Amino acid sequence: MKILVTGGAGYIGSHTAVELLDAGHEIAIVDNLSNSKIEAVNRIKEISNREFKFYQVDLLDENGLRNVFLENDFDAVIHFAGFKAVGESVSKPLKYYYNNITSTVMLLEMMSEFGVKKIVFSSSATVYDSSNKPPLKEDMKLGTTNPYGSTKFMIEEILRDLYASDSEWAISILRYFNPIGAHKCGRIGEDPNGIPNNLMPYITQVAVGKREKLSVFGSDYDTHDGTGVRDYIHVVDLAIGHIKALDKISNNKGVFTYNLGTGIGCSVLDVVNNFIKATGKEILYEIVDRRPGDIDVCFADSTRALDELGWKTKYDLYNMCLDSWNWQKNNPNGYEK
Ligand code: NAD
Ligand code: UFG
Repeated sequence: MKILVTGGAGYIGSHTAVELLDAGHEIAIVDNLSNSKIEAVNRIKEISNREFKFYQVDLLDENGLRNVFLENDFDAVIHFAGFKAVGESVSKPLKYYYNNITSTVMLLEMMSEFGVKKIVFSSSATVYDSSNKPPLKEDMKLGTTNPYGSTKFMIEEILRDLYASDSEWAISILRYFNPIGAHKCGRIGEDPNGIPNNLMPYITQVAVGKREKLSVFGSDYDTHDGTGVRDYIHVVDLAIGHIKALDKISNNKGVFTYNLGTGIGCSVLDVVNNFIKATGKEILYEIVDRRPGDIDVCFADSTRALDELGWKTKYDLYNMCLDSWNWQKNNPNGYEK
């Protein structure tokens, strides 16, 4: 298939691009590089040994996007592009609603205009209401607590309404849990701007000497060691989930929603200890107050993805730590030279 990958220069998009090329698909990437670097695109080409078109275009630029559709005959779109920082979304909600929602509506309009009616969308476990008891299942109650999460929920609603209005659409909504890790080769990985918000990039930056110590946000949660529990998933397993979701919508019309997680909850200290074991690096940490807005436990029930897509994860936490470190140690400054 010929796939448009929006946000393909980003962390999950770049890994998915490699898997798409490996699986024999043709791709084109659209990314405005607002949270990524052109070097990621070069490295996708290097790893896959394949050429493809890259467009530095903002999805909000209607003419730029139309030009991309005019130059290519797409079968489907995988839509990663969007802003993702929860904290920033609280202080700048309009920035998030505008970039995430308006750009998605413009993309969907363009797809309709060109008769491209297959899309895989990056949603998040954050769309589940915090009253649900994990493991989280796709049909559980939805509810959000911050503007970023609300953009994901609203886009899901837009996609469901779109299918209700036109049953020619084939839509896969993927709810990611906590992606970490990197491609085995250590050439692509997560490259956050500034101080990382997320746990694994913070740990790898401590390990590489860029940060002094990790702050562990809270040790009084109702979990096995008191620290927050999440479902960490290797980004390559996640990427492969997109290939499976694409297969599903290439043969079926409808809206198909899947959790992509391992089903295993790991605490912050489990991650730290696995990282130390996998890498031999010491990680200094101190316990500090809870981070506002954090929940105690979040992990997936991914049996629907197993039953309907034949998808299951391959990598455990130890391997996720190994691969995160392999990326960071080979690229101490990310994609910067
Ligand atoms: P990322 O920031 O690395 O990648 C997103 C890419 O989209 C970036 O390269 C950015 O430059 C691009 N982009 C943003 N707005 C754009 C626009 N208007 N036009 C064109 N390009 C634009 O993020 P990621 O971690 O790879 O996440 C990919 C998707 O998955 C996002 O939608 C994110 O919300 C979602 N998601 C991520 C996580 C996570 O923990 N990483 C969890 C759940 C869901
Ligand atoms: N944590 C620390 N110290 C840090 C960073 C995180 O202790 O420096 C803890 C958090 O309190 C939490 C766990 O590590 O218990 C994971 O935190 P992350 O920030 O890595 O991930 P979250 O689960 O908070 O959020 C992630 C994405 C969101 C997404 C959510 C659900 O960042 O975009 O998963 O999918 F909405």
